[in-house]
Amino acid sequence: MKGIVFTEFLEMVEKEFGYNMVDDIIEASDLPSNGVYTAIGTYEFNEMTQLLGNLSSKTKIEIPTLLNTYGKYLFHTFEKNYTAFFEKETDAFNFLESIENYIHVEVKKLYPDAQLPRFETKRISDNSLEMIYSSERKMSDFAEGLIFKTLVYYKTEGDIKKEFLEEDGSVVKFTITKR
Ligand code: HEM
Repeated sequence: MKGIVFTEFLEMVEKEFGYNMVDDIIEASDLPSNGVYTAIGTYEFNEMTQLLGNLSSKTKIEIPTLLNTYGKYLFHTFEKNYTAFFEKETDAFNFLESIENYIHVEVKKLYPDAQLPRFETKRISDNSLEMIYSSERKMSDFAEGLIFKTLVYYKTEGDIKKEFLEEDGSVVKFTITKR
């Protein structure tokens, strides 16, 4: 998992819960990196699982909620650092469709070791888009936070429906409907 995902995560934890919490969750985890991350480095996904698990037990906030909040938080980082991807599209659905065939493709060129999910998208109607998420990292709640902020960014009122296609959360169908 890319370092930017860790550096931004710890920044969010510091803003929401204070620096002591950052220290506490790093201390409580067994991290090969010792909790020292650089944005361009690559670290084991297991480190994120541990940090999230410890944040959840210390704050009593469930992991899905934390991941959703983190998706919303990271959206702003993407918006700042990758402006061109957003300016290229003028509509939320076009943007969401461009993740699999363009945005994440470019990300992979920049960082060949990035571990990205797969998205299969299908237009159900003019105002409805289906998006099937697949990833062994099971971060659909994180995806949901990003999708939510995409709608806000493109000033689109809409609903996001979520359905597990695999019980373990590795394949999840989103149906996004404009109101
Ligand atoms: C400009 C926009 C975007 C950029 C630059 C971007 C880039 C990235 C990067 C760098 C990672 C980390 C890969 C790693 O740790 O190895 C990632 C992961 C991820 N991205 Fe994107 N992304 C963008 C938009 C989105 C959006 C809108 C969604 C939601 C539909 C999305 C869904 C995900 C998910 C769910 C992951 C976590 C990995 C997984 O589930 O397997 N991304 N993305």
